[in-house]
Amino acid sequence: MKSQWVKTLRPGLEVATYFGIISLNIGKTKNGAKFLKVRLGDKTGTVEGRVWDSALAEDLYQTLVLGDVVIVQGIVTEFNGLQLNLDTCTKVDKEHVELNDFRPCTDKDITKMLEKFQLQMDSVTTPPLKSLLDAIFDTDFLVDFSRATAARTIHHAYGGGLLEHTLEVMDYCSKICEIQGEAINRDLLVTGAALHDIGKMWEYDQECLSFNHTEEGRLLGGHVILGYDFLRRKIAMVNFPGKLATQLLHMILSHHGLKEWGAVEEPHTVEAMALHYADLMSARINQVSQLVKSHRGTECWTSFDRYLGRSLYVPEND
Ligand SMILES: [Fe+2]
Ligand SMILES: [Fe+2]
Repeated sequence: MKSQWVKTLRPGLEVATYFGIISLNIGKTKNGAKFLKVRLGDKTGTVEGRVWDSALAEDLYQTLVLGDVVIVQGIVTEFNGLQLNLDTCTKVDKEHVELNDFRPCTDKDITKMLEKFQLQMDSVTTPPLKSLLDAIFDTDFLVDFSRATAARTIHHAYGGGLLEHTLEVMDYCSKICEIQGEAINRDLLVTGAALHDIGKMWEYDQECLSFNHTEEGRLLGGHVILGYDFLRRKIAMVNFPGKLATQLLHMILSHHGLKEWGAVEEPHTVEAMALHYADLMSARINQVSQLVKSHRGTECWTSFDRYLGRSLYVPEND
C-alpha cells in the first residue's frame, strides 16, 4: 500500500514508499564518481531522485527499466527544486501494487462508476443483447476494464479512462433515446455503447505505466478491428440472431464516423449515427476539459492544442 505521494514531499522529509520509474540516467560528479539520476513518479506528479553510492547506482542502472515500480528509502532535499536522495531502491513485482497509483488516473470514483455501468447494463432487457453483455462483462473482466485507459493521448488518457468514457457514451445514448428516441432501438444502442471501444483493452498495454501500444494494436487495425474481432467471436458463442449481430458489428466498425477518423464503414443505421455522435461528444468534452484543467499561469488563453486546432479562452472569475 502506497503511503506517501509526490505532492506531499517537503525538504527534510524521510521517505519510504513506492514510485514508478519515469527516466533513468548515469551521471558523473566532478570527482568522476558515477551516480544515478532517476525521475520517480506517481499519479500526483514526479520528482528527481539521486543514488550517490556508485556501486548501487551502476547496479540499478543495469537492472531497472522505465515503467518499473520500486520501493525506495531516502530523504527529501532541495537542489534546483525537490530532490530525493535514495539509500535504497528495490524493484517490486507489479502484481503487488495498484498500477493506477503510479500513472495518471481518473479523478472519478471507479466503484461508483462501476455501479452506474452495471445499472446501464441492467437496463438492457432484450435477451440476446443481455446475454452477450453478461457473457463479456463478468467480474474478472470488469476489474481489468475499470483500470484501463481509453488512449495514450487526446481523450480519457488515464487509468479508469476507458470506463469513464464508456459510461459517458452510454449516458449520452440514453439521453438521445429520451429526447429523440422514437426510431431508435434503445437496447441495441446501449449495448453498442458499452462495447464500442472494447478493443482498447488490447490496443494498449494496460499493465504499462505509460500505456504503450501493443503490437497487435499497431499491426491489426487498432481497437476498431480488435473490438470487431473480439465481438464476432463472443457472438458466435451465444444464441444471437444474424441481423442483430450485423447491426451491432456495424456500430463497432462505424463509430468513428468518418473513414479519415478511422471508421471502417460510415454509420448507416440510426443507432450507429447516435453512437458516433455520443462518442464524439464524450471525447471532445473531455479534451477541452483536460486542456482547461491543465492550464496554469495568469494568461487567459491555454496553450495551443494541435488535436483541437485551437487555444481555449479561460476567463478569470471576478
Ligand atoms: Fe473508438
Ligand atoms: Fe469511444
